[in-house]
Amino acid sequence: MPQKQTSDETDLRNYLRRLPKAELHLHIEGTLEPELLFELAQRNGINPLHPSVEALREAYQFDDLQSFLDLYYAGADVLLTRQDFHDLAMAYMRRAHADGVVHTEIMFDPQTHTMRGVPIETVFSGLADGLREARETLGISSYLLMSFLRHLSEDEAMQTLEAALPLREAYQDLWVGIGLDSAEHGNPPEKFARVYARCKALGFKLVAHAGEEGPAEYVRTAVETLGVARIDHGVRSSDDPAVLQLLIDRKIPLTVCPLSNLKLKVVDDLANHNLAKLLRQGALVTINSDDPAYFGGYVLDNYMAGACALHLSHDELTTLAGNSIQASFLPKAEKNALLERLAKVVRQAS
Ligand code: ADE
Ligand code: ZN
Repeated sequence: MPQKQTSDETDLRNYLRRLPKAELHLHIEGTLEPELLFELAQRNGINPLHPSVEALREAYQFDDLQSFLDLYYAGADVLLTRQDFHDLAMAYMRRAHADGVVHTEIMFDPQTHTMRGVPIETVFSGLADGLREARETLGISSYLLMSFLRHLSEDEAMQTLEAALPLREAYQDLWVGIGLDSAEHGNPPEKFARVYARCKALGFKLVAHAGEEGPAEYVRTAVETLGVARIDHGVRSSDDPAVLQLLIDRKIPLTVCPLSNLKLKVVDDLANHNLAKLLRQGALVTINSDDPAYFGGYVLDNYMAGACALHLSHDELTTLAGNSIQASFLPKAEKNALLERLAKVVRQAS
């Protein structure tokens, strides 16, 4: 049962909603709500693994990252057509818009789809249809970060890159970068050194998941060997003060996802989450939702959960929203315009 909000919480939520924010750590496949999953299953003549929306939602109890990934990859089986990818993207954009998100940088895993026989063009074109429609109708801008599955080989990542490159021009307004996700243990960043070097040479922005379940050392190699501009999660950086200092010195942002960390048992209690400590130590922390359909909350829920569990001040919450804009891959002029909008909202509220 969702808990009733106090009036203070309602005021805080309204304030946070009004802050222009960017969401930088979001897997589009992780926004597939059970209702849409069932709708797409029916549309495509697929039998869902669970008998009902309620039964599926009840199955969202995870012990760790792998137990989530098993359900998440199975859920993606219902995505087959360009229309399906459009509908998925558009549903997320409507939800993000309602939370006051003005810009998104969305990860997608083409290998999850191509290995089931879905052409990579279908994935790109459907997502682009949704994101371009959202830009027109909702006024939210988006970028795409094509992500490689790290439990697969580097050769497979390279083949995926080569298959996608002919599409680059058609999607140049959206596809700006690449990422690395899936099972972290035993799949260190350096496994993908060659493919990242190639992407860097091609001018892509680079991000990677590191230090979610894996050690702080993976954060270091993501920065030093892969040359990433941003770390997804990175909460375990604080296990090694030298790694945390590296992030602070180089102003490398962390895209932190509190509810994800709670659901996947990266932390036992949000009150023990190190987000506030990282922020207060000078790390460029942002708040994001990761896979909101699976983890019980979209970006505003993540801000609220962090704010309430960690007693974040208004100033800290405003800093977090500002960090999300600062840490984005938007051009400088667009960042400045959004930061001015943010400052105006804060002035009006005070
Ligand atoms: N893919 C989707 N969500 C992920 C997460 N939290 N960690 C790694 N890979 C993912
Ligand atoms: Zn993630």
